[in-house]
Amino acid sequence: MADPMTALRPHFAEAVRKSFGDAYAETDPALRRSDRADIQADVALGLAKKLGKKPREIAEAIVENLSISTICDRVEVAGPGFVNLTLSNDWLATELSNAAKDARLGIPAAVKAETVVVDYSAPNVAKEMHVGHIRSTVIGDALVRVLEFLGHDVVRQNHLGDWGTPFGMLIEHLVDLDAKSANAVSVRDLDVFYKEARRKFESDAAFADRARKRVVLLQSGDEATLDLWRTLVNASKQYFGEVYTKLGVTLRDEDFAGESMYNAMLPGVVTELEQKGLVRESKGALCAFPAGFKTKEGEPLPLIVRKTDGGFGYAATDLAAIRERIQARKATRILYVIGAPQQQHLAMVFAVANAAGWLLPPTRAEHVAFGSILGADKKMFKTRTGDTVKLIELLDEAVLRASALVNEKNPELDETTRNGVARQVGIGAIKYADLSSDRIKDYVFDWSRMLAFEGNTAPYLQYAHARICSIFRKAGVDAESMHHARIVLREPAEHVLGLEILGLGMSAQQVADTLQPHRLCTYLYGLATAFTTFYEQCPVLKADDDDTKSSRLALAALTERTLGLGLSLLGIEAPERM
Ligand code: ARG
Repeated sequence: MADPMTALRPHFAEAVRKSFGDAYAETDPALRRSDRADIQADVALGLAKKLGKKPREIAEAIVENLSISTICDRVEVAGPGFVNLTLSNDWLATELSNAAKDARLGIPAAVKAETVVVDYSAPNVAKEMHVGHIRSTVIGDALVRVLEFLGHDVVRQNHLGDWGTPFGMLIEHLVDLDAKSANAVSVRDLDVFYKEARRKFESDAAFADRARKRVVLLQSGDEATLDLWRTLVNASKQYFGEVYTKLGVTLRDEDFAGESMYNAMLPGVVTELEQKGLVRESKGALCAFPAGFKTKEGEPLPLIVRKTDGGFGYAATDLAAIRERIQARKATRILYVIGAPQQQHLAMVFAVANAAGWLLPPTRAEHVAFGSILGADKKMFKTRTGDTVKLIELLDEAVLRASALVNEKNPELDETTRNGVARQVGIGAIKYADLSSDRIKDYVFDWSRMLAFEGNTAPYLQYAHARICSIFRKAGVDAESMHHARIVLREPAEHVLGLEILGLGMSAQQVADTLQPHRLCTYLYGLATAFTTFYEQCPVLKADDDDTKSSRLALAALTERTLGLGLSLLGIEAPERM
């Protein structure tokens, strides 16, 4: 139980119970970090209304009944009724020592492990992944890592766009290319491929006709057509796999769960919705009208389950997928990491799934929505020529720019090390820029900011990590040998650093609860800053005596592990030198 808030909570519950009776035993102590003390409890302010008393009186009563002298040195009622708590150095040191002995740094797994399906990345076949997909991939992967670390059973679902009417034109285009070139298909440049197919579809009536017939063949399961379709799907999957490797995300081949996977389930889904009276014919299409959704004109808003031509679309697939995830995969939590514009679509899918009796509490589905990436002009991020920026080119450029920076910072590094570090820093910078601001907001893509060595950036955190490693190199001490060293806190900067170190578990839990990875970024930034202050104010290698030196080295080692673990939960690597 390494984290102070978790340690304090039951004591507050007991004090509240003693002061005001069993009915209030469950009251949230409302603990938070504070700049006036280490931790502040706002419990009295919340209770004031319920009890009809002054918050200060309540706070004083609670403090009277609080027995936390082993945890805190100072407990004070302040302002309108805050309880300010200063942790004892001895208690902190003991908790830090315990954390150091544990591979998980004392962070417990979730009390109630859940099966969590995370739907993320989800690019489209025969289409280049662009910067918009970066957000889903990077945010989704961070959430997956945090949830797994906390002991949940995570099922990654890469909802690949591998079905639908565009495949008529894509397959016909493939047929044309194949006839022309001996060296089979090259869907390497996916955007060119897609654009050519679309241009032909729009300008060549005979081609368009063939494309439409091809869709029918595809849907009826024609073997030759399915073969061509597989060629496209497999080439795309292979390409996406390369991007994932470059990006360092945990998505594997077996995580692809393309839209086509749900084809066989669609008629059953429709029958079930019909039997439950949840769909009706509207202008030739079969639609659900979930309660509460209205068009601009105030009419019921349809979710199209079966189109006029009898085909199924995006919504039907999502309905089949949510049923499958709950019933077959036993998910109790489903996360959809998809851009904010699909908010209404998802809300309608969730509403229909609820009405159908599939999505019932405690099982919940959550839209992890995110904003756009903007260019310096605050418009959608584009290349200078106005094209959409390809993800893979962006990653290569990041590594190139990082390489120049690392070279400048540390010209002594040999080339292999430099290349490795440049990859860690470049990819880390891109990911961190995406993760560190509130995901719902748009953010401006800015090379110089994301690659800066100062401020809340990946290079700053990575540099802090590398610097700690260099302390151990300089001392000729193996950092691991410090895991059992005695920690003694005396200086204020040691106290603050110790308190920061113990915050990782809480921060990870917050990310799991709120699905906001930026909270973990803010935490890590605070930790790195606390280390910088500690390092400025508390000599480590030149400490006054051996015990102090050993204690400070132990603190440094623990900071290094905490930073490394925190970054890894974000999917960012921590170099040992930079
Ligand atoms: N392929 C879609 C797109 O690129 C995203 C799919 C998201 N997942 C889902 N279950 N609808 O916009």
